[in-house]
Amino acid sequence: MTADEIRIYGDPVLRKKADPVVIFDDELKETAEGMYMAMLEADGIGLAAPQVNISKAFLVIGMPKEDDEIERLFFANPEMLETGGETSYKEGCLSVPEISEEILRPEWIKLKYQDIEGNEQILETDGLLARVLQHEIDHLNGILFVDRVSPIRKALLKRALKKLAESNGEERPRKKHNLLDQF
Ligand code: CO
Repeated sequence: MTADEIRIYGDPVLRKKADPVVIFDDELKETAEGMYMAMLEADGIGLAAPQVNISKAFLVIGMPKEDDEIERLFFANPEMLETGGETSYKEGCLSVPEISEEILRPEWIKLKYQDIEGNEQILETDGLLARVLQHEIDHLNGILFVDRVSPIRKALLKRALKKLAESNGEERPRKKHNLLDQF
């Protein structure tokens, strides 16, 4: 899978609610691997399956660690159990190139999900991981970060978004210097 397969704003798959993952097999592992490669190629740190035209509830994350290492994470059927606090972060999205906006979200989250083997897990986290997870879980519900800006910002973004939608995917994500804002 390559970065060219990432769907761009205006593609209807980005607005569909994803179906639950029920089969945890080698094909799922291969797809996750492909998504991980496409995400890295596009300089992103998170990618949800609907972003590559797969309307299934799973996502991959590559969390930057010290020593330039990347921690590879997979989540299927995530379900938020609890949230707390509130914080703002400048988000961007591989499916909404060239736009980034400050978005308010809960600061910490507790979620239930299934790992790549299908085992149920519980995770409590905050910081960047909590941020990326909430953004990706939105993707699984057909929600984009630009839906979460204030009405004034929304009005200001209207033209740029319309242009993106009309470009039929021609507008591609570009290599970014700041990798921490594309997911
Ligand atoms: Co995104």
